[in-house]
Amino acid sequence: NSERTFIMVKPDGVQRGIVGDILRRFEQRGYKLVGLKLLQAPRALLESHYEEHKGKKFYEPLLSYIGSGPVVAMVWEGLNVISVGRKMLGATDPAKSEPGTIRGDYAIVTGRNIVHGSDSEKAAQREIDLWFRAEELANWSLTV
Ligand code: CMP
Repeated sequence: NSERTFIMVKPDGVQRGIVGDILRRFEQRGYKLVGLKLLQAPRALLESHYEEHKGKKFYEPLLSYIGSGPVVAMVWEGLNVISVGRKMLGATDPAKSEPGTIRGDYAIVTGRNIVHGSDSEKAAQREIDLWFRAEELANWSLTV
């Protein structure tokens, strides 16, 4: 079924110039871009985004990494985009990511893994609502 997911290029992805390739991969697969912005995320937003990891040993390093520079926040729409998007990203630990996936092509450590993608329908809804206002999302369909 058609659904939406939240995908974010992390600061290392932006700094390494991989934004265009990530956009291209989702477009090429056939997904529809409905939200896109570049921002340096305030601490409060990152605390909400990563609330499930609060207290873990990587929590503070994670927040300072994601807050260290601009990220590109995106919402993609299409058939099974949540699970297929996760496959396109590759495993969270790049050492376990298959070549051909984004992390498998660009990353080697979990602490600098280039991209984020929602891992469930519930997470996708929560993350989209957190990062985007309703009027920042475009409802459009192919008409040509
Ligand atoms: P992401 O899938 O965006 O969501 C949680 C993030 O926490 C994950 O990507 C990694 O960037 C980070 N993370 C998860 N586990 C670890 C870990 N063991 N060490 C460092 N960072 C981690």
